Amino acid sequence: MAYTALYRTFRPTTFSEMVGQEHITKTLKNQIIAGRVGHAYLFNGGRGTGKTSAAKILARAVNCLHPKDRRTL
Ligand SMILES: Nc1ncnc2c1ncn2[C@@H]1O[C@H](COP(=O)(O)OP(=O)(O)OP(=O)(O)O)[C@@H](O)[C@H]1O
Ligand SMILES: [Mg+2]
Repeated sequence: MAYTALYRTFRPTTFSEMVGQEHITKTLKNQIIAGRVGHAYLFNGGRGTGKTSAAKILARAVNCLHPKDRRTL
């Protein structure tokens, strides 16, 4: 069986699964809902605080074909 690293197994896939960082998740969620997404984002912060996870969730939301479902949020 192929080994999957823990950080990939447990990476949150929705903003609601992220622990803390509400000021970030709330802002990004509101931008998706309002359809006003910036042309670039810079995720800055300490190691392992959710920068890559937040970027992946945002990318999923931006590319979602059925945003009404809001499942990626
Ligand atoms: N805010 C969070 N909520 C839930 N899980 C988190 C959070 N931050 C980190 N994790 C967990 O830690 C792992 C690493 O997070 P992530 O790769 O998003 O951090 P990072 O800030 O990009 O780290 P690095 O600084 O090393 O690039 C994730 O797979 C997840 O399991
Ligand atoms: Mg990272």
